[in-house]
Amino acid sequence: MRFDILTILPELLEGPFNVSMMKRAQERGLLEIHIHNIRDYSTDKHKNVDDYQYGGGAGMVMSIEPIATLIEKLKSERNYDEIIYMTPDGELLEQRHSNSWSLKENIMILCGHYKGVDERIREHYITKEISIGSYVLTGGELAAAVVVDSIGRLIPGVMNDETSALTDSFQDDLLSPPVYTRPPEFNGWKVPDVLLSGDFGKIEQWREQQAIDRTKSRRPDLYKKFTGEE
Ligand code: ADE
Repeated sequence: MRFDILTILPELLEGPFNVSMMKRAQERGLLEIHIHNIRDYSTDKHKNVDDYQYGGGAGMVMSIEPIATLIEKLKSERNYDEIIYMTPDGELLEQRHSNSWSLKENIMILCGHYKGVDERIREHYITKEISIGSYVLTGGELAAAVVVDSIGRLIPGVMNDETSALTDSFQDDLLSPPVYTRPPEFNGWKVPDVLLSGDFGKIEQWREQQAIDRTKSRRPDLYKKFTGEE
């Protein structure tokens, strides 16, 4: 699977993909991540990539020209399944988005900045607008890294134990149950007896109940989905 990320701050994306699972996935040829500097496509003599907004008002707008040139170039090289724009006014990212995108071949991601991108880019190129939460970041880069990470780990072969993705929080609209490892007692704090019982039927039952209780108290919105109320 291939990602093309369009940014004015490529340095911000150097770190996240060069360690751990994302690094290994690239080394093993399961994942390609190409980072493109929008500034390289500016024809402006100062390499500007933004401009004042029409109608006045504070804040600069990312210019249409360098972004359109870069998107057209990439589109002429391959077909994209999705062209995502990272923006706080987008649809909230959920596990279902990542699940479906993990089955695709080519995804382009445009990182927003300043007041955002010229609306015509959104109208004519973007197929999905995504926010990673109801808060504003300085730009879309960190949000893009979140999207790539959440998709990348689902690509078959990326995780050692593929079944672990299926038991993640959210995969069945439930949060994960609590987990413990050795020692069985620390500072007098004990691991629940059932987990040490060796009775796998009981353990499964306990985990399921814990997941349900957690979801009900922490994420009533998800719990409604789980029970089919929504
Ligand atoms: N850019 C700035 N804030 C963002 C957010 N919350 N999600 C996605 N992109 C963003």
